[in-house]
Amino acid sequence: MSNSKDNKIFIMSNIIDGKKLAGEIRSTVKQAVSDLNDIGVSPGLATVIVGNDSASRTYVKNKIKSSNEVGIKSFNYDLDEKIDEEKLIELVKKLNSDEKVDAILVQLPLPKHLCASKVIDSINPDKDVDGFSLINAGRTFLNRHGVVPCTPMGCLLLLRSIKFKMEGKNAVIIGRSNIVGKPMSQLLLNENCTVTVAHSYTNNLSKLTREADIIIAATGKHHMIKKDWVKKGAVVIDVGINRIIKDKKTYLVGDVDFKEVYEVASYITPVPGGVGPMTIACLLVNTVVLAASRRNIKVHKDLESLIN
Ligand code: GUN
Repeated sequence: MSNSKDNKIFIMSNIIDGKKLAGEIRSTVKQAVSDLNDIGVSPGLATVIVGNDSASRTYVKNKIKSSNEVGIKSFNYDLDEKIDEEKLIELVKKLNSDEKVDAILVQLPLPKHLCASKVIDSINPDKDVDGFSLINAGRTFLNRHGVVPCTPMGCLLLLRSIKFKMEGKNAVIIGRSNIVGKPMSQLLLNENCTVTVAHSYTNNLSKLTREADIIIAATGKHHMIKKDWVKKGAVVIDVGINRIIKDKKTYLVGDVDFKEVYEVASYITPVPGGVGPMTIACLLVNTVVLAASRRNIKVHKDLESLIN
C-alpha cells in the first residue's frame, strides 16, 4: 500500500496481526484436541522451569494457560534455581516414561551450572516439543518430517499468512541461536529463499539488511533495526521481546524500531502481538502432533496443513 504526500512516496506498512493468526490456530488446535478426546486420547504437555528468571516465568505461565484453554493437560514442574543436573535429568527421564505426557518443554535458558545440551539430549525425541534435540534438529536440517522449533515455525506461518512469495527472495536473519536463527535459516531455505545468517561478528550488517526482501530480527537488542537499514517494501519479522523502563513504566519493545521501520516496510510484525503469540500457538500445535504421532494417529487435516 502506498500514498503520496508532499511529492514523496511513502510505503505504508501492513501490520501482520500475530495475535489474530495465533487465535485462529488455537481454535484449530482446540478442535484437534476435542477429536483426540473423542477417541480416548488426552494430549499432555509437561513444562519444566528452573529458577526465578522473571521473563521465563511469564512465558511458561502463558504457555500453561494457553494449553489449558485448548484442552491440553499440563503437568508443571517449578524447580529450585540450585537443582543439580542429575536430579533434573532424572525428572526428564521420569516424564519420558510417563504415559500421560506427550510433550516435554524445558524452558531455556537454564541456570549456568546446568548444561542445557545434556538436559535437552535427555528428552525422548518423540516428546521433544521444541524440536531442540539432536534428532529433531537433524530432521529440521534435512527437511524431514518432525517437530520444528516453535518461534521459527511461528515466523514462517506469519510469512505464509500474507501470501508473500518467498521463492528466490533474499532473507537476512539477524541472530544465530539454536532456538531461532539456525532453524529459521533452514525453514527459509526450504521455501527457496537465499538466506544470510548475520550475528554479532558480522561486518557491515546494515549493508546486508538493506539488500533483504525479508528481515528476521532476533538480536535481543531493543530498537536496533532502524529505518535506514531496511529496503523499501521489505517484510520485517521482529522476534525480539525486550523490556525497557521509561518514566518508571515497563514496556515491551522489539528489536526493530517499529515507528521508523513501519514507514518503509511493506509488512511488519508488532511487539507485542506479533511473533510472541505465534510461538505459543506453535507449541500447542506441536503438542498435538506429538500426541497423535506417538500413537500412529493421523493428525487433524487443518494441523497437517500448518506443519507441511
Ligand atoms: N526460551 C526462549 N524461547 C524458548 C522456546 O521456544 N522454548 C524453550 N524451551 N525455551 C525457550
